[in-house]
Amino acid sequence: MTKLATIEYTNRRQALLQSLPQGAVVVIQCAPVHIRNGDVEQDYRQDSSFYYLSGMVEQQTTLVLTNGVDGPCSSIFCRSKDKLQEIWHGRRLGVDAAPRALMMNQAYASESVAEKLIELLDGASQVVYGFSREDTGDLVKRSLSKLRGLTRQGKTCPSQLVDLDPLVDAMRLFKSSAEVEQMAMACDISVAAHKRAMSVCKVGMNEYQLAAELHHQFSIQGSQRVAYGSIVAGGENACILHYTNNDQVLQDGDLVLIDAGCELDHYASDITRTFPVNGRFSESQKTIYELVLAARQAALACIKPGAVFTDMQDAAVKVITQGLIDIGLLTGALDKNIEDQTFRKFYMHNIGHWLGMDVHDVGIYKIGGESRPLIAGMVTTVEPGIYIDPDDANIPSQWRGIGVRIEDNILVTEDGYRNLTAYLPVTVADIETLMAG
Ligand code: GLY
Ligand code: MN
Ligand code: MN
Repeated sequence: MTKLATIEYTNRRQALLQSLPQGAVVVIQCAPVHIRNGDVEQDYRQDSSFYYLSGMVEQQTTLVLTNGVDGPCSSIFCRSKDKLQEIWHGRRLGVDAAPRALMMNQAYASESVAEKLIELLDGASQVVYGFSREDTGDLVKRSLSKLRGLTRQGKTCPSQLVDLDPLVDAMRLFKSSAEVEQMAMACDISVAAHKRAMSVCKVGMNEYQLAAELHHQFSIQGSQRVAYGSIVAGGENACILHYTNNDQVLQDGDLVLIDAGCELDHYASDITRTFPVNGRFSESQKTIYELVLAARQAALACIKPGAVFTDMQDAAVKVITQGLIDIGLLTGALDKNIEDQTFRKFYMHNIGHWLGMDVHDVGIYKIGGESRPLIAGMVTTVEPGIYIDPDDANIPSQWRGIGVRIEDNILVTEDGYRNLTAYLPVTVADIETLMAG
């Protein structure tokens, strides 16, 4: 059982409508179809916020929620049953089955949305739709303009346009217990895939072969797709933060950095581990690795309700900067290095990001210009790293080209945190043991 219960979507719609004034109308559309070439479409993946509110995976679908005097009402506009289309392109839920299957009040054919929306907007106080969606903006504005033309027939037009995105983003930031379990399942699959990669890794394999091992494990455990393009970066490729070529041979004596996570029923996981291609860390690799590991521990130790997001980054920066001073890659006092941000040459990204239906999930990081406090139910990644320029002649050769990142998926809980990816080996000893086995 991987799918959330239908009632979960109903509750979300209700919660959204309850946060809006009476007379509000919410319009949200499915993801558009993108053409790859000719009549071939890109793989279709539902829009996360649309799925969050509807549980509907199909194309050509619109959800309209109204908060009228008669109470909340959900209307879904979806594709009609069509034998020929279904023979070619797959089954459709259909208009008749949709209300029961999706726990909606009513369903209409996709083609009727423009016409019906005029009716649903009549007498409304405000229209709420995602300002990031030009197609929905066009649909809403066309309907409003038609409705305005019907004033003499007693129709009234809402005067307020409200952005839906921040409202749904704020809801998606806090995970229900069902969502947490869904994400934990996605993490379990990714953990198994990373373990598999560690187990089969051998000198002379290609990065794409290791990627294939990961993707195989994702698929056989029921994941529908990757949550983002997998990074399998041998040697100095690990110093390219968004390396996705994955086409080089893994060399004896190098590390390999794998940043890969599966998606399970529209929930992402996002894990990084770095391990030696030949199964044994060199002294230099171990030094850098354990520094990143200590930064991870320092960041994790901050996580509890009330801590602010930047506490994690500050803690990691302190450990990384001191460690780089200790091994001579930075010089001078810790405070001065932190003030001058000298660590950015080696650690140039942030400590993490919200995780949920999307890998870089929705939700703001600052409130009133200040880093936002952590609250139970949020999920964040923690992903410190050190990347040493392979081409910098001023750096002793023993360090050059080493790239290490360690990334875990962390749920904030009432009394601290739960590491959803804790079962994946992370210490030097545990990684070496797994690879030797
Ligand atoms: N895999 C993307 C990230 O770690 O942010
Ligand atoms: Mn990440
Ligand atoms: Mn990642």
